[in-house]
Amino acid sequence: MHEILLDAPLDMHLHLRDGAMLEFVAPLSARDFAGAVIMPNLVPPVDTLERLHRYRAAVATATAGHRFAPYHTLFFRAYNEAELLAARPFIIGVKLYPEGVTTNSAAGVSDIAAAAETFGLLERLGIPLLVHGESHGFVLDREAEFLAVYDWLARSFPHLMIVMEHITTAAAVDLLDRHTNLFATITLHHLIITLDDLAGGLLNPHLFCKPIAKRPADRDALLAAALNGHPKVMFGSDSAPHPRDKKEAAGCAAGVFSAPVAVPLLVDLFAQHNALDRLPAFLSQNAQRIYGIQPPIKQLRIRAESWQVPLQYGEVVPFMAGRTIDWRVVTP
Ligand code: DOR
Ligand code: ZN
Repeated sequence: MHEILLDAPLDMHLHLRDGAMLEFVAPLSARDFAGAVIMPNLVPPVDTLERLHRYRAAVATATAGHRFAPYHTLFFRAYNEAELLAARPFIIGVKLYPEGVTTNSAAGVSDIAAAAETFGLLERLGIPLLVHGESHGFVLDREAEFLAVYDWLARSFPHLMIVMEHITTAAAVDLLDRHTNLFATITLHHLIITLDDLAGGLLNPHLFCKPIAKRPADRDALLAAALNGHPKVMFGSDSAPHPRDKKEAAGCAAGVFSAPVAVPLLVDLFAQHNALDRLPAFLSQNAQRIYGIQPPIKQLRIRAESWQVPLQYGEVVPFMAGRTIDWRVVTP
């Protein structure tokens, strides 16, 4: 029987929500991953030490019994040095959302240049800046328009570690190689789908997310970077659960729920491209090196065995619902 072993898979961009949704989805990530970067876009956002500690406790409870390290983040605002020093031992970075660009980002930043003082503080304190990089322009151009902001940030704060979250364009992949302090995460769905899968035929709301999936040439550039184990690129699912009635609705919420299928689908994708030897870089080693983290020791055994993705996990429709996947996680 064909099996492969994966050491410490890491999801460097994950939405776990709070309350009942957190309790339901967190174990699905904690089962297949050794750690994950937990995004802070709750309402209200995680932007005080008190909320951070409360959220850390809730995530710890929801993932109890699993070998799983939650790497927490603070929601970006104009923090002072004392606040950042107090939070630093408990966070892996600060997550910046431009105001209003996606789910729960109403408290995001409206004028990025005006936040220079905080960027300088993060740089001096060695705290990474994680960015949802989209402008308020035409939806297909939002990431491309934001690349100038990344360029400005990388040049103005050369010692600030900047992660371009969930990149979706070939131009973003190109930008990575122009600044030593720029890194990126790529989702599973952006390695597979294009705008056609979402809206080219019958509308599929379960593939609607921000940033929106782009052109085949963009998808191919992302895929090439992942399959080559590009040293500045990490896997980040951006798994973002919304209840089915919020997705199959006028005013569909943005987000693809991929957590329970991410590892087997990545194995399948890399196997199809004869690139399984590059998967550990994309799924674990690059992130460990870039962030300087040592996740818990955890080895996943994945077997060449078909299974059908459930149509729903609780109230949430997963990525590839109902489809057959040829690889199955058999441990832990
Ligand atoms: O599609 C998305 N959903 N993109 C994001 O940036 C946020 C996420 C969510 O929290 O639902
Ligand atoms: Zn996200």
